[in-house]
Amino acid sequence: MGARIQFAECAVVAGAIFLLTGPAVRSQTVQHLSVPQPGGMPGMPVMTGITRVTNGVKVTWDGPSGYYQVFEEATLGSLKWVAVGKATNLVRNATITALYSNAFFRVSGPSPKYVGSQACAECHPAIHATELKTGHAAAFTNAQFVAEGGQTNRYCLACHTVGYGLPTGFVSLSKTPRLAGVQCENCHGPAAKHAANPDDPIAVPRVELAATVCGGCHTGSRHPTYEEWLTSGHAEVVAGALSSMSSSTTNLNNCGRCHSGSVRLSLLEGNPLPVGDFNVSVVCVTCHDPHQVTPNPAQLRNPIASTANYSITASGNFTKQYKTNINLCAQCHNDLAASWTNSIAPPHHSPQYNMLLGTVGVLDTGAPPNQPGSHALLVTNQCVQCHMQTEDAAGGQPAITGHSFRIELYDTCLQCHPFEPELLAEFTKTGISNQIQQVKEDLDLWAMAQAPDSLWTEYGTRAWEYTTPGDLSPGGPGPTAAEQALIPENIRMARYDLYVVLYDGSYGIHNILYATTLLDTAENWIQEQLNQ
Ligand code: HEC
Ligand code: HEC
Ligand code: HEC
Ligand code: HEC
Ligand code: HEC
Ligand code: HEC
Ligand code: HEC
Ligand code: HEC
Ligand code: HEC
Repeated sequence: MGARIQFAECAVVAGAIFLLTGPAVRSQTVQHLSVPQPGGMPGMPVMTGITRVTNGVKVTWDGPSGYYQVFEEATLGSLKWVAVGKATNLVRNATITALYSNAFFRVSGPSPKYVGSQACAECHPAIHATELKTGHAAAFTNAQFVAEGGQTNRYCLACHTVGYGLPTGFVSLSKTPRLAGVQCENCHGPAAKHAANPDDPIAVPRVELAATVCGGCHTGSRHPTYEEWLTSGHAEVVAGALSSMSSSTTNLNNCGRCHSGSVRLSLLEGNPLPVGDFNVSVVCVTCHDPHQVTPNPAQLRNPIASTANYSITASGNFTKQYKTNINLCAQCHNDLAASWTNSIAPPHHSPQYNMLLGTVGVLDTGAPPNQPGSHALLVTNQCVQCHMQTEDAAGGQPAITGHSFRIELYDTCLQCHPFEPELLAEFTKTGISNQIQQVKEDLDLWAMAQAPDSLWTEYGTRAWEYTTPGDLSPGGPGPTAAEQALIPENIRMARYDLYVVLYDGSYGIHNILYATTLLDTAENWIQEQLNQ
C-alpha cells in the first residue's frame, strides 16, 4: 500500500510570489534543490519560482519526497482555492495552462514526520555506524557548542538539530533527545514514513547531490563555505565540457569523470551513468563523503597529499584507472596522460599535479621527467595548503574557509618566504609570462622563416600549431592531421612543453625550476631548428 496524501495533515505553502517573465526553466529529469534552505533538506514544501512559459506558467517548489497538489486562487483575495491537476504530483513542478486573471498558487504536500537516525540503523547499519562518528552527529554535544549556550539558543538550533521549528522536529534535549545533532534527515528529509514502510516508493527519501543541501547550514559569516564555493570554478560545469557531455554517453563517461559531480559519483559507486542529470558540478559531496570520517581528514574521499605520479586518460574504464590514495585535487587536476606525439590539440588545462611533481613534458634526455619541486615535497598539504588557507571571522569580516580554492592569503608562504611572498609570486608570474611570450614568438619566427611553404601560405604563424590550436594562436585551425607530419619533431616537442607550462596556470610557481627547464628546452629546440 502506497501512503496516500491525507489533506488533514498536509503541509501547505502559499505561492503568491512574483510572476517572473523569463526563459522557460530547462527541464531536468532530476529536480535539484535550487535554493539552500535553513537546516538542509526542507521538511515542508517551499515555493522556489513562478516563471512564464510559452503555454502558461511554471510553478516550482521544493520539499521532501511525496505527493503534492497545486491550487490556484480563483479571484484575487477570494481565498477560494481551486485544485489544479491531481493530488499525486511526484515531481516538484507543474505547468499551469488554464490561468485565472491573477497568479496566486499554493502547494500542499506531505507533512513532515521526523524519527531520528536510530530508526535507520536496522536497515542501513553501515551508513548509520559511520555517520555516528562524524562531526555532524556531535554537532549538539560538541563542548564548544555547549559552552556557547547553543543548546538552548533558538538561533542555533536549525543547523545543529533535526527539523527544528517544524512539526515532529526537535524541541529540546529533554523532549526530543533523538533529534539532537545533524543527522540523516537533515540531508535526506523527514524519513519516518520510509522507515515504517520501506517498500513505499513514494516515501523513499531524497538523495540530493547539489551543494544547496549543505549550503543550508554551511553559510553565514562564521563559515561562508557555500558562498565561497559558489564563486569558484567548481560551482559550474564549463560550457565546453557540458556540450561534449550532452553529445554522447562516451563523452559523458570521458569528460564527466572530472567535470560532473553526478557522473563521477556514479563511476565511483558502479552505478549507471546519470544520463540527463549530468549538469552537477564539482559539489561538496564530490570531495566530501557525507557518511564517512575515515581514513582521510574532513570526511574527504581521498588524501590531501601524495607523491606518486598519476594521470588518468579521458577515455576508457574509469574504475581501472582510479587510485584512491592519490591527492584529492590530483584526481582531476592531472595531465590526462598527455604526450607530445598527440598533434590534434594541446594538452588539457589540468596538468597541475604533474607540474608539481615535474613529471609532465618532454626533455632532451629522452627519459621520462621526474623533477619534483620544493612545493611538492616540503609543502606538506600540497594544493590544499596554498589554495585553501583559512582565517577566522573577526571584526565584522567574514571568515575565509578556503572554498574559493583561489590563493586568497599568503600566510602559509611566510614560513619559507619571509619577505613579501605575494610580490615574489607576481614577479615570478611576470617572468614566466615573458618567457612564454618569447618562446611563442620564436615559434612564429620558425613559421615565417622555415615552415614548408604550403603550411605558411595556408596557416601563417599557425603553421607550428596543433590541428586545433591552443589559446596562443586564435584565428582558425592549424595544419591538418596529414600536414602535421611536415612539422619537425623539435617544433612539436617545443610547442608541447610551451603549452604544458601555460596550461598549468600558475606561471611557474608550482615548480619554478622545472617550468624554467621546460621553457629553456623548448627554446633550444626552436633555435636548433632555426639554425638549420
Ligand atoms: C525497514 C528497513 C528500512 C529502514 C528502517 C530505513 N530504510 Fe532507508 N531504505 C530501505 C530500502 C529497502 C531502501 C531501498 C528502497 C528503494 O530503492 O526503493 C531504502 C532507501 C533509502 C534511501 C534512498 C537510497 C537511494 O539510493 O535512492 C535513503 C536516503 C534512505 N533509505 C534513508 C533512510 C533513513 C534516513 C532512514 C531512517 C530514518 C531509513 N532509510 C530507514 C530500507 C529501510
Ligand atoms: C543541518 C545543518 C547541516 C547540514 C545540512 C550539513 N552540515 Fe556539515 N556541519 C554542520 C555542523 C553544525 C557542523 C559542525 C559539527 C561540529 O563540529 O560540532 C558540520 C560539520 C561538517 C564537516 C566537518 C566534519 C568533521 O568531522 O569535522 C564537514 C566536512 C561537513 N560538515 C560537510 C557537510 C556536507 C558535505 C554537507 C552536505 C552533504 C553538510 N555538511 C550538510 C551542519 C550541517
Ligand atoms: C546557518 C546554520 C548555523 C547556525 C544558525 C549556527 N551554526 Fe554553528 N555551525 C554551523 C556549521 C555549518 C558549522 C561547521 C562549520 C565548519 O566546520 O566549517 C558550525 C559549527 C559550530 C561550532 C564548532 C566550532 C566552529 O566554529 O566550527 C560551534 C561551537 C557552533 N557552531 C556554535 C553555534 C552557536 C552557539 C550558534 C547559535 C548562536 C550556532 N552555532 C548557529 C552552522 C550553524
Ligand atoms: C551531510 C548530509 C548527509 C547525512 C547526514 C546523511 N546522508 Fe545519506 N547521503 C547524502 C548524500 C549527499 C548522498 C549521495 C552521495 C553519496 O552516496 O555519497 C547520500 C546517500 C545515501 C544513501 C544511498 C547511497 C548509499 O550510499 O548507499 C543512503 C541509503 C543514505 N544516504 C542513507 C543515510 C542514512 C541512513 C543516514 C543517517 C545514518 C544518512 N544517509 C546521513 C547525504 C547525507
Ligand atoms: C582528468 C580530469 C579531466 C578530464 C577527464 C577532462 N577534464 Fe576538462 N578540465 C579539467 C580541469 C581540472 C580543468 C580546469 C583547470 C584549470 O582551471 O586550470 C579543465 C578545464 C576544461 C575546460 C576549460 C578550459 C578550456 O579549454 O577552455 C574545458 C572546455 C574542458 N576542460 C573540457 C573538457 C572536455 C570536453 C573533456 C572530455 C573530452 C574534458 N574536459 C575532460 C579536468 C578534466
Ligand atoms: C574540490 C574539493 C572540495 C569541495 C568541492 C568542497 N570541499 Fe570542503 N574541504 C575540502 C578540503 C580539501 C578540506 C580540508 C581543508 C584543510 O584541511 O585545510 C575541506 C574542509 C571542509 C570543512 C572543514 C572540515 C573540518 O575538518 O573542520 C567543511 C565544513 C567543508 N569542507 C564543507 C564543505 C562544503 C559545505 C562544501 C560545498 C559547499 C565543500 N566543503 C566543498 C575540499 C572540498
Ligand atoms: C572532481 C574533479 C575535481 C577535483 C577533485 C578538484 N577539482 Fe579543481 N577544478 C575542476 C574542474 C573541472 C575545474 C574547471 C572548472 C571550469 O573551468 O569552470 C576546476 C577548477 C579549479 C581551479 C580554477 C578555479 C577558478 O575559479 O577558475 C582551481 C584553483 C582548482 N580547481 C583547485 C582545486 C583544488 C585546490 C582541489 C583540491 C582541494 C581541486 N581543485 C579539486 C575539477 C576538480
Ligand atoms: C606553493 C603553493 C601552491 C601549491 C602547493 C599549489 N599551488 Fe596552485 N597555484 C599557486 C599560485 C601562487 C598560483 C597562481 C595564482 C594566481 O595567479 O592567482 C596557482 C595557480 C593554480 C591554478 C590556476 C588558477 C587559475 O585561476 O587559473 C590551478 C588550477 C592550481 N593552481 C591548482 C593547483 C593544484 C591542483 C595543486 C596541487 C596539485 C596546486 N595548485 C598546488 C600556488 C600553489
Ligand atoms: C615549505 C616551504 C615553502 C612554502 C610553504 C612555500 N614555498 Fe615557495 N618555494 C620554496 C622553495 C624551497 C623554493 C625554491 C624552488 C624549489 O626548490 O623548488 C620556492 C620557490 C617559490 C617561487 C619561485 C621563485 C623563487 O624564489 O624561487 C615562488 C614564486 C614561490 N615559491 C611562491 C610561494 C607562494 C606564493 C607560497 C604560498 C602560497 C609558497 N611559495 C609557499 C618553499 C616554499
